[in-house]
Amino acid sequence: MPTARATRRHAGMPAGLRNGPVYMDYNATTPVDSRVLAAMMPFLDTHFGNPSSSHHYGDAPHAAVARAREQIAALIGAVPDEITFTGSGSEADAMAIRGVAIAAIDAMREPPPPPPDAGPPAGPAAREV
Ligand SMILES: Cc1ncc(COP(=O)(O)O)c(C=O)c1O
Repeated sequence: MPTARATRRHAGMPAGLRNGPVYMDYNATTPVDSRVLAAMMPFLDTHFGNPSSSHHYGDAPHAAVARAREQIAALIGAVPDEITFTGSGSEADAMAIRGVAIAAIDAMREPPPPPPDAGPPAGPAAREV
């Protein structure tokens, strides 16, 4: 029988964390918040289709992912197009590394800025004068 103190300490704590050692691996997995579980349930048992599918079963999941993207963007001050969901940490890492590499290549391709005293850039308008 748990003591009143233990009952108070466990209030709101996921069952799997009660009476065990302190859980220190939230980086890997976390217990799912009951509110998250409730929000997810319709997409686990009813609207289980692939959101990328163009057929009927993809419609509701697609709309839900679009709404989640908008909500997350609003939460962090981004625009929805800036939010990308990945299927794993490794996929996210690979996308970040690839993005940095592509940005570096693009930066190398850009012409260097003119020196401060170079005057207006040469071009058709400059040649007409
Ligand atoms: C930064 C980072 N990359 C990759 C992984 C591996 O995750 P996954 O098995 O989802 O690819 C983890 C897992 O904790 C992680 O923290």
